Amino acid sequence: MSKIFRLDASIRQEGSVTRALADTIERTVAEELADADVVRRDLGVTPLDGSVWPAAVSAGPVPEGERTSEQVAAAGIAAELADQLEGADALIFAVPLYNFGVSQHFKTWLDVVTTDPRFAPGTQPLAGRPAFLVTARGGGYGAGTPREGWDHATGWMRRMLEDVWGLDLDVIEAELTLADVNPAMADLRDLAKRQLEEAHDAARETARSVTLRLRATV
Ligand SMILES: Cc1cc2nc3c(=O)[nH]c(=O)nc-3n(C[C@H](O)[C@H](O)[C@H](O)COP(=O)(O)O)c2cc1C
Repeated sequence: MSKIFRLDASIRQEGSVTRALADTIERTVAEELADADVVRRDLGVTPLDGSVWPAAVSAGPVPEGERTSEQVAAAGIAAELADQLEGADALIFAVPLYNFGVSQHFKTWLDVVTTDPRFAPGTQPLAGRPAFLVTARGGGYGAGTPREGWDHATGWMRRMLEDVWGLDLDVIEAELTLADVNPAMADLRDLAKRQLEEAHDAARETARSVTLRLRATV
């Protein structure tokens, strides 16, 4: 059986582009691998409390028997998150762009994971595992556009997932997702629609090629 871990960070349920693209990946994987088991963590619905991370950091150097109850609880949450990741054969991260930066829910989650000793700097327990980073941006950030270089989230997420954790990462991106609701972007609606279709095609194709590899290895 192949185990898939899926994380969602969109703060909306209805109309979420990252959730829809992750659904396409999940559906394709399920079609290709009859026995796929998907474990989900929905940070948009159940975010981690911001106090968990500093408590987990401060627990690190303290021997287990000497930790405060807050430190014990925080280290326990970090271990649970790390268990979920370690148990996965493939991973899906669906994380939108917010305020030109990374989702705070995703940042908190990743910060907490990193406090678990298995994810300490220099360790790569997930090295080589296939993973998808799905992201969506309301505006456009392409070369030559006024907002080129303003997406400060995707580069950081790639750095952490690909370089620090060593995942074998595919990135699926959708832009201009606010074109339908922002009158100033009315001229971009056709382009946005086309780009979204292309993103779903890319999600399907990439998911198919990843499942081929999973079939060979799991
Ligand atoms: C609070 C908030 C802040 C946002 N900030 C940005 C932003 O800085 N740049 C941008 O292009 N889009 C921004 N957006 C738009 C989202 O990136 C876009 O709607 C995306 O599709 C959200 O992902 P979702 O469709 O999965 O919910 C923001 C949306 C919200 C709700």
